[in-house]
Amino acid sequence: MTISRLLNEATTRLKQAQIEDPALEAGLILSWAIKKPRALIYAHSDMDLNPSDAGRFMELVERRSLGEPFQYITGECEFMSLKFKVNPNVLIPRSDTELLAEAALFCLGCPQPFIDPGLFQVSRQGIRRVLDIGTGSGCLAVSIAHYAQDVSVDALDISEEALKIARQNAELNGVSGSIRFIHTDFLTDSCFTGSKYDLIISNPPYIPRDDKTGLMPQVEKYEPEQALFADDGGLCFYKRLAGISPKILAEGGVILVECGFNQSESVEGIFQAHGMETMVLKDLAGIERVVAARVRV
Ligand SMILES: C[S@@+](CC[C@H](N)C(=O)[O-])C[C@H]1O[C@@H](n2cnc3c(N)ncnc32)[C@H](O)[C@@H]1O
Repeated sequence: MTISRLLNEATTRLKQAQIEDPALEAGLILSWAIKKPRALIYAHSDMDLNPSDAGRFMELVERRSLGEPFQYITGECEFMSLKFKVNPNVLIPRSDTELLAEAALFCLGCPQPFIDPGLFQVSRQGIRRVLDIGTGSGCLAVSIAHYAQDVSVDALDISEEALKIARQNAELNGVSGSIRFIHTDFLTDSCFTGSKYDLIISNPPYIPRDDKTGLMPQVEKYEPEQALFADDGGLCFYKRLAGISPKILAEGGVILVECGFNQSESVEGIFQAHGMETMVLKDLAGIERVVAARVRV
């Protein structure tokens, strides 16, 4: 069967399954399946594909039609222009989270064109200690270690399976030497509280466990539950962090956390109740996405 006919069939199947932009996804899946650039595929769309490649392609299209995320099918994704491995043990890094990564780099003195220049900055010079809580794929820890100078990153997660992927991603991006991975439960353990950090970042689970309205079914079906849901109306990680910040935040240090739609006010309130000053950063869609906090100066 010709490439063009296969692409048409795949597009029809993906469209029936209500996949957004089915023609684009059909092309992306084929390109990944036969390891050829998309431009080459379209330029030779009248060529026949061998039956084994065609069969494999249509199997992948079927998986995608059933809702499996493209990134879990290919096992990889891009974040901050770096390549990351992913599997169903880790949350697929979101483009929204790049705001948190850029804000972290700004705090560490790396100029970022889209970050509010009034954002707090870490005061320490020399090696800065960074803590990433709930590192998952390691996308934040690895990006910071890759783009910032003079950092030593601790990245923790409750999931040993997630940490395996995070370690691979550190290796893939050449920053294993700058990151220490810690297997721990942030909500109950205190093995990391002996250290002081200049920058603490986290994209914690924040979807209220008892309110899943608005959650896309394929997210709930395919992505790890412990990366998504949190107790206490989705706020338990922020409360724990604010509570232990006097122990783990160095003098002149900054906290940056991602939060969900409509949560920024509550999250600011949590840090303010612990005597901290806060500010909020909006993502490209105008949603208040990142809360920054530091001890009032
Ligand atoms: C929303 S995901 C964020 C992953 C990654 N940092 C990102 O931005 O894509 C939250 C992560 O927190 C981890 N996590 C959940 N509960 C935890 C806990 N009690 N202690 C430590 N990590 C936890 C999950 O395993 C998951 O990897």
